[in-house]
Amino acid sequence: AIYPSSKDGSRYVAQQIAQLIREKQKNNQLCVLGLATGSTPISMYAELVRLHREEGLSFKNVVSFNLDEYYPIEKDAFQSYWSFMHRHLFNHVDIDPANIHIPDANWPKEEIKKHCAFYEEAIEKLGGVDLQILGIGNNGHIGFNEPGSSIYSKTRLVNLDNGTRLANAYEFQNMSKVPRLAITMGISTILKAKRILLMAWGMKSAIVAKAVEGHVTEQVPASILQQHGDCTFVIDEPAAQEL
Ligand code: GLP
Repeated sequence: AIYPSSKDGSRYVAQQIAQLIREKQKNNQLCVLGLATGSTPISMYAELVRLHREEGLSFKNVVSFNLDEYYPIEKDAFQSYWSFMHRHLFNHVDIDPANIHIPDANWPKEEIKKHCAFYEEAIEKLGGVDLQILGIGNNGHIGFNEPGSSIYSKTRLVNLDNGTRLANAYEFQNMSKVPRLAITMGISTILKAKRILLMAWGMKSAIVAKAVEGHVTEQVPASILQQHGDCTFVIDEPAAQEL
């Protein structure tokens, strides 16, 4: 779906989320959302906060699972995805803190495997993710699944590509401060979501074209989404230029 601007695209995605939350509320069901960070979803979260304040959208029945988190990083560091999510969404809506799940970067390395298995189990226990929100990295990564990630991969500790660390360096004082590792949901975790909306704005046109029209390959993780039955790329006109 191509929108004239990122603002229009963000509004569409926020509306889809709101609609699902309300539908689930009517049926007294939980709404399981998979959430993303990065610069891309910021205006979408702002729109959700607006819908909460001005149109009474409640998040009481929402359970959230974030895609990824740097490792290691302090929870309350400005750059952590834990801080990002609270700053942009959770602090401004009525979600139950017990329903918020973000990979925990404070586990010692030897316990990470166990933590990642818990994360997968927690999602499965709730019947899976109803709606997964994604961004896309310049190399086609989704979450922190860098090129080469297996389609069978699950939540795990991964190395970040240098290009990814460089792209995210703006959040830190300098590149050397960007963590070298991260915990991320796997490709198979993401593919299990019932519905997926991937957002991309502006300069992402080359990688968007590869992901949508190129071969399905683990070298472009987002291309694997072509095999999902209900995945939509929500992009603005600049990002659609090479389609
Ligand atoms: C980040 C995140 C991804 C995100 C991507 C794009 O590092 N781990 O989940 O989709 O890279 O980031 P941005 O939206 O800032 O371009």
